[in-house]
Amino acid sequence: MSTVTLDVLETPAAVVDLGRMEANLQRAADYARQHKLALRPHVKTHKSPLIAAEQLRLGAAGLTCATPYEGEVMSQAGDDLLLAYPPVGAPRAARIAQLAKRARVTVALDSERAIVDMGAAARELGVTVGVYVELDLGMHRVGVPSAANAVTLVRRVQAEASLEYRGIAFYPGHVREPVEEQDAALESLGTALSSALDELAKAGFPAPVVSGGSTPTIWRSHEIAGVTEIRPGTYVFNDRTTAAVGACERDDCALTVLATVVSTAVPGQAVIDAGTKALGREPMRGVEGEGFGALLDRPEVVVARMSEEHGILDLARTDWRPRVGDRVRVVPNHVCIVVHLNDIVYGVRGVTVEESWPVAARGRGQQEIQPA
Ligand SMILES: Cc1ncc(COP(=O)(O)O)c(C=O)c1O
Repeated sequence: MSTVTLDVLETPAAVVDLGRMEANLQRAADYARQHKLALRPHVKTHKSPLIAAEQLRLGAAGLTCATPYEGEVMSQAGDDLLLAYPPVGAPRAARIAQLAKRARVTVALDSERAIVDMGAAARELGVTVGVYVELDLGMHRVGVPSAANAVTLVRRVQAEASLEYRGIAFYPGHVREPVEEQDAALESLGTALSSALDELAKAGFPAPVVSGGSTPTIWRSHEIAGVTEIRPGTYVFNDRTTAAVGACERDDCALTVLATVVSTAVPGQAVIDAGTKALGREPMRGVEGEGFGALLDRPEVVVARMSEEHGILDLARTDWRPRVGDRVRVVPNHVCIVVHLNDIVYGVRGVTVEESWPVAARGRGQQEIQPA
């Protein structure tokens, strides 16, 4: 078979440096093992059962999914799945219950309605679904605000024969300051978590699992007393935001968008064929940084503006004068969105394309409605 090199790929294309990805996976697996934390990676970043299988091979305790479709696809790779998203609504709950026929399934939830929906769907199929009760420890997205609310929900879970209380979940997504400046945020997180766990234990519901974790806080997870399981997702590829936060080096960013310069007609800028439909419109969050991505080799050159298929590179801070037809690699601000915009991801070593894989859990796996 002849060697395929980067220059023959049609652009825009999502390209993963395999060496960097392997190192990212290994680093997190080693960290979790060293600190005796169960690693349950969130698959929303890669959406690939092949990478999930590698995470499990390296010691992951199970997988975290957001959508029922991610769960269905990931059941090809592993049989212990957390759906870290409220199982609200009969259609969603029914799909999750189906999944529980072939995998150990746990859901994270924060409402009576979710308990009713999930309980009924599981009962209907004669399966057991585990439950983590979700606490809000500062992100203010989902999660009950107090341990007293959590106790009420645990009692309610225990009243459903088809559900099993398996622990507590929280997501520290609000901690986005640079890693070395996270002390105060982690301390208040730890204090709130400890007191909630104490209250749950006093009420007779000690949490068998305490599931938290994110990529910006990944290397400091062991400092949050009580956490037993972490769910980072972005760490597999990393991105410009993760590097700016200091949770990885720039050289740990494994996924770039390969793009071609398609116009230099307007002075002071170059246009690439990666716009919002290749990069998403993701700003840097929590940290300084302009634009929607930066060039791998020239971080001073950012994607300043975008249309759907056009990305405008700002050349104000560089002497580099690209020519039409030149190729560039863009480190995206938020990699999870980029993966989700692609059908195929290409794995490279140097300029050699060694493999490619489908973004198998992309989309929602919806069924078409057949006309009656
Ligand atoms: C509930 C939950 N857990 C874990 C993660 C993974 O966090 P990160 O993207 O920082 O790796 C996410 C990310 O959105 C999430 O929503």
